[in-house]
Amino acid sequence: MSPVAPPRPEVHANCAISLDGRLAYAGGRRARLSGPEDLERVQQLRLASGAILVGVNTVLLDDPSLRVHYELLGRKDEGRHPVRVVLDSRGRLPPQARVLDGSLPTIVATSGANTTAYPKGVERIVCGTDRVELPRLLRELSDRGIRRLLVEGGASVLSSFFRSGLVDRFTVYVAPVLIGGRTAPPLMGGPETAGPEGAVALTRVAVEPLGEGVLLTFAPAPGGHAPL
Ligand SMILES: NC(=O)c1ccc[n+]([C@@H]2O[C@H](COP(=O)([O-])OP(=O)(O)OC[C@H]3O[C@@H](n4cnc5c(N)ncnc54)[C@H](OP(=O)(O)O)[C@@H]3O)[C@@H](O)[C@H]2O)c1
Repeated sequence: MSPVAPPRPEVHANCAISLDGRLAYAGGRRARLSGPEDLERVQQLRLASGAILVGVNTVLLDDPSLRVHYELLGRKDEGRHPVRVVLDSRGRLPPQARVLDGSLPTIVATSGANTTAYPKGVERIVCGTDRVELPRLLRELSDRGIRRLLVEGGASVLSSFFRSGLVDRFTVYVAPVLIGGRTAPPLMGGPETAGPEGAVALTRVAVEPLGEGVLLTFAPAPGGHAPL
């Protein structure tokens, strides 16, 4: 009998990239790659999710609010927002970050090595000794009733989720722009891939024009490695 996998939320990863696969400008400076149609799609995704997750570098560089922007859907704020989750193993989240403003339920996933006190109303979940271990975090989120998790990046976080085999669906909006250079972050960061055994293989589900760009949808490939 095969062992039963512990329960975890369904994980949907989403991002917007340039045609040359960059998530942002040089040094990580925020790039607004999504057009209005994609921004609307992302709000629908957020609304359908129990939680939205980003890494601490995305907070440091972009300071996102991680709320549903109802105005982009042409609707009044209904007050329904996913839980915000930030991976911050070492306590680098700045106290003035918008995700710590106390306006929405927020979780900081951290490690035992981090002794930072977060503001009132922010739940701290320790899921690792030195670094956030994703399977542990997903179990904690599942215990809190979260059934669908939207992972929005950045490059290191996407890498960790993909390399841990924890992405069930991946959507990427490709904007018709080239960024180039050496320091603009690529879609997937993390460790170097020396050969096909380290590459993450996906199966194409859909290719659709969206606004000025293209929306690509993928699922994990059976086996998980690229047949290169
Ligand atoms: N275009 C898009 O759709 C989009 C979306 C989001 C972000 N971005 C861009 O992405 C860039 C940031 O990406 P990034 O790769 O520098 O950082 P990131 O993925 O946002 O954050 C990475 C950090 O999260 C922490 N972390 C804790 N546990 C982790 C784990 N298990 N796996 C991975 N990270 C973990 C680590 O810091 P500690 O060790 O300190 O915990 C790590 O350095 C920015 O330029 C931002 O603009 C673009």
